Amino acid sequence: MYKAPRGTADILPEEQPHWRLIEQKAAETCQLYGYERIDTPVFEDTGLFARSIGEETDIVAKEMYTFEDRGGNQVTLRPEGTAPVCRAYLEHGLASRTKPVKLYYLSPIFRYERPQSGRYRQHHQFGYEAIGDGDAALDAEVIDMAWRFFASFKLTGLSLQLNSIGCRQDRPGYIKALKAYYADHLARLCPDCNKRYQRNPLRLLDCKKPICTRIAAAAPQNTDYLCPECGEHFSRLTGYLTQLKLPFVLNHRLVRGLDYYTRTVFEIQPEGEEAAQSTLGGGGRYDHLIEQLGGQPTPAVGFATGLERIVLNINKQGIAVPPPFRPAVFIAGVGGEAVAEAIKLAANLRGNGTGVIHGSGGRSLKAQLRQANSLGARHAVIIGEHEVASGTVILRNMATSEQETVALKDLAARLG
Ligand code: HAM
Repeated sequence: MYKAPRGTADILPEEQPHWRLIEQKAAETCQLYGYERIDTPVFEDTGLFARSIGEETDIVAKEMYTFEDRGGNQVTLRPEGTAPVCRAYLEHGLASRTKPVKLYYLSPIFRYERPQSGRYRQHHQFGYEAIGDGDAALDAEVIDMAWRFFASFKLTGLSLQLNSIGCRQDRPGYIKALKAYYADHLARLCPDCNKRYQRNPLRLLDCKKPICTRIAAAAPQNTDYLCPECGEHFSRLTGYLTQLKLPFVLNHRLVRGLDYYTRTVFEIQPEGEEAAQSTLGGGGRYDHLIEQLGGQPTPAVGFATGLERIVLNINKQGIAVPPPFRPAVFIAGVGGEAVAEAIKLAANLRGNGTGVIHGSGGRSLKAQLRQANSLGARHAVIIGEHEVASGTVILRNMATSEQETVALKDLAARLG
């Protein structure tokens, strides 16, 4: 028997209400802040991701689903949503629109990770990007939007972690200080961190191994090395967040897993969890990405959250979601002619916009009513030979089991 590939999941009918609720709240939140939907292909040229996310990141080095297609092109299943949006922004000349250009997406994402609770090889993200404005007010808006989105589910106990990782000007000074600090600890660091020390020292800060975490705790802090412009940007941002009453926590070890970030980085985490596989969402500013992909220098900021993790947290916190769709009416036809009448009636009612399921005629009335009950229909309409002959139906209220005879011509009005 075949099974869904490891790290993927089927979303069964009973789980669909959660997903529809999240999509609905995503669209509503985007409307509140003026974001428009964009959809990009599931796969792109591999180079787009290697170039933007960074060759040394786990995503590019170990996790991409990359293959050569039949035409000999190297393509990759989308491992994140920001680079494709920037590619589309450039390809379609969206730079000519009023800035910031605000776009959002809901899309499947593929990363070859070690599957565990909340971590999949195919997951789904709701993300949004504001392109073309460097003002700290926009960072505040992007963070406020994420916070409002989670609040709309009544999720509690979330924490908002914030940091600034500076820019091209101040990064070399900080990296120098970081390397000087870590030089004394190399023998105690894990093998991966020894590689990071050489290739991507910022990543040293977010290693989850206990020994590396302890060493990172006393490392120099990026915010102490910001250039005056980045320092000013960060202090304006924290001022706006305070004004908005967003309870941010400064986290000097927050660097994020993608290389394109500059200045603001942030994450939203659920209460008391090991961060790596439970972070609800993350984002930040990426002021050089558009330029790196061949465009004009264009500042931008964005955020993305994993839908599976939202579902997990909604369930953990026992938050009610709207019940799944239920058909209003179940039609039970008993006997040859009655079944033909039931099919006709179902078509008429559907034409009036009433949801109808009709039972299969070969089954007993009792079996059909049991089916109506398990489907959660509000009413059952029973048609037997007597009803066909007299132009009536029996209307049964499934909650109370009360039944009455109704003329066929009056039925639609009674159900409406
Ligand atoms: P990211 O932090 O890599 O950021 O992913 C965003 C969110 O996707 C995570 O916080 C998590 O909720 C979810 N997620 C990531 N990997 C998995 C997985 N294997 N299984 C389940 N959920 C997962 C980005 O992708 C950036 N593009 C965000 C961004 C947008 N930055 C600026 N704009």
